[in-house]
Amino acid sequence: MKLILLQSLFWMFVFHRIMGEDSGCQLRGGKCQKDNLHCSGYYVNGLCSSYGSRRCCFNSRTDPISCTEVKIVSRSDWGAVPPTNVSYLKPPVDLVFIHHTDTQSCSDLESCSKILRSIQYFHMHVRGWADIAYSFLVGEDGNAYEGRGWDLIGSHTKGYNDRSLGFAFIGNYSIHLPPATGLSAAMNLIKCGIENGKITPDYCMYGHRDVRDTSCPGEALYREIRTWTHYNCTDSTLFFMGNLRSGTRSIHFIKP
Ligand SMILES: *[C@@H]1O[C@H](CO)[C@@H](O)[C@H](O)[C@H]1NC(C)=O
Ligand SMILES: *[C@@H]1O[C@H](CO)[C@@H](O)[C@H](O)[C@H]1NC(C)=O
Ligand SMILES: *[C@@H]1O[C@H](CO)[C@@H](O)[C@H](O)[C@H]1NC(C)=O
Ligand SMILES: [Zn+2]
Repeated sequence: MKLILLQSLFWMFVFHRIMGEDSGCQLRGGKCQKDNLHCSGYYVNGLCSSYGSRRCCFNSRTDPISCTEVKIVSRSDWGAVPPTNVSYLKPPVDLVFIHHTDTQSCSDLESCSKILRSIQYFHMHVRGWADIAYSFLVGEDGNAYEGRGWDLIGSHTKGYNDRSLGFAFIGNYSIHLPPATGLSAAMNLIKCGIENGKITPDYCMYGHRDVRDTSCPGEALYREIRTWTHYNCTDSTLFFMGNLRSGTRSIHFIKP
């Protein structure tokens, strides 16, 4: 009896030495290595055993799913800096939030990339978040831009980030709508997410202002998304959660 106990303690010790403090990195699909070595993706702190200067290297940030009906500009193509931390969603999610960035709009790769870099800077250095807040962003050029992507928890909708994806239109849509190419890019992105197991087919969609005291995604865009099929969601979970979390927000939940 004692022997078995000693043996299992020994194997636990061995397991801990091998996996132990690196398991946080390994379970997420990364590899612990000295951070003076080249990492083809990006490094994340705090997931490897602390001796030396070892950090967790991830090769690619998300499952490389391809979307045929919308062009997704990758992070490296818009000049993103690596995130300072990552946490993972459990796909598929059944909630989608629509935002606007409340910035200038943009209509080509160069101007959109420039705005994205400044939003990322703002979110990381002023807001103190690990990365640009949104899962994806859509420009008036009709392109989608990769934010945190399909698999990582964002910082777009407080209280709901760990179970939703957040799509933001780049611009201020209080008065006017994004162009048709932008609207269909967002719809095709959601469709692609469903086809690839990232979003449930019966997902519910809301605007940011449905759960927070904000004008986001802008009056004009908000009016538009309320005509989209999945806005009309019969799932009352969010309704009650939203009510509980934010007190008097129920006025925004016009149920069918
Ligand atoms: C990374 O984020 C997770 C979840 O929000 C948090 O628990 C953890 O402390 C963060 N790690 C670092 C190194 O900031
Ligand atoms: C967005 O547009 C509205 C309406 O024109 C305006 O009141 C608001 O200040 C704009 N937001 C920013 C950040 O400029
Ligand atoms: C919303 O749901 C109701 C009841 O299910 C249905 O009659 C109505 O057509 C729906 N509206 C939209 C915009 O899908
Ligand atoms: Zn928002």
